[in-house]
Amino acid sequence: MDSKHQRVKLSDGHFIPALGYGTYKPQEVPNSKTLEGTKLAIDAGFRHIDTAYAYQVEEEVGLAIKSKIAEGRVKREDIFLTSKLWCTCHRPEMVKPSLESSLRKLGLDYVDLYLIHYPVAMKPGEDLFPADEKGKTLLDTGDICATWEAMEKCKDAGLAKSIGVSNFNRRQLEMILNKPGLKYKPVCNQVECHLYLNQRKLLDFCKAKDIVLVAYCALGSQREKRWVDPSAPVLLEDPVLCAVAKKHQRSPAQVALRYQLQRGVVVLAQSFKEKEIKENVQVFEFQLTSEDMKNLDGQDRNFRYASADFLADDPKYPFSDEY
Ligand SMILES: NC(=O)c1ccc[n+]([C@@H]2O[C@H](COP(=O)([O-])OP(=O)(O)OC[C@H]3O[C@@H](n4cnc5c(N)ncnc54)[C@H](OP(=O)(O)O)[C@@H]3O)[C@@H](O)[C@H]2O)c1
Repeated sequence: MDSKHQRVKLSDGHFIPALGYGTYKPQEVPNSKTLEGTKLAIDAGFRHIDTAYAYQVEEEVGLAIKSKIAEGRVKREDIFLTSKLWCTCHRPEMVKPSLESSLRKLGLDYVDLYLIHYPVAMKPGEDLFPADEKGKTLLDTGDICATWEAMEKCKDAGLAKSIGVSNFNRRQLEMILNKPGLKYKPVCNQVECHLYLNQRKLLDFCKAKDIVLVAYCALGSQREKRWVDPSAPVLLEDPVLCAVAKKHQRSPAQVALRYQLQRGVVVLAQSFKEKEIKENVQVFEFQLTSEDMKNLDGQDRNFRYASADFLADDPKYPFSDEY
């Protein structure tokens, strides 16, 4: 098997490629960049693509995948595609129509993985970030377990091969795992995870429950001003990371990704640049030593780039708990 396609088994029997291409983009970046970037990623060897309704690029992601299928470079079944249920669509009756709307945009008849994007519900409607005149987020009372039951129906309908969650803390994962009548458990929890927030405790919990941890912002995020404090440390300039990279004659980005793979974490990487995209798939060709891993572990400082402050007023805001 091509090493680029190293995969991890999910609890429902499906396999997820250990490395994925991220398709989030800041609003000011044109959608054409996503179309181009996703095509470059498939050409470079990425077989796992991560998107979401809220990214508003599903159309371009679908076009990129279909163009590579039409070229004969890949078949649909070679691609592992993730999308996510947005916070304004948590009401159980909205879940399947929401996935169907994503699939229409993608121009595909199933996703490989569908995730609840956040455990917090916002007011239903067209607005992705509903807020009052003072800018305060309009939240919705939501029941994570009821939303999960609607997710299970999406899997039963064949619209999503696997279902999982994102940005859930341990308590919220346990709520689902302990739900009476649980039909399918979440196959993964996609969370922020990198050198400065290595999620050791959440990772150990997930491993014990056979839930795959998928890492986002693994390269230190896109540092979009809307969400990330400009004074936040630049992850790829971390001296320890750079020293390990130098030792292996690899880039800091490659080491940041490799670090996650060696911890049993599935990792996402975003870039629009061909050189970086090609570099990011070359992470199966070298190994970090246990000493490297220990040094990298030592950089953890509980620092979060994407704290989703717009949800912070909700009791279900996930990042107040220790993990
Ligand atoms: N579930 C969630 O709530 C959630 C939240 C955030 C993200 N995500 C997912 O995770 C994906 C990845 O996270 P992210 O978008 O925050 O960004 P990321 O992958 O942490 O970092 C992206 C930035 O790193 C730089 N980079 C990439 N490869 C590089 C290389 N080889 N050398 C040097 N720099 C490199 C790029 O910046 P330059 O282009 O400036 O070089 C890029 O913008 C997202 O796209 C999305 O799919 C999910």
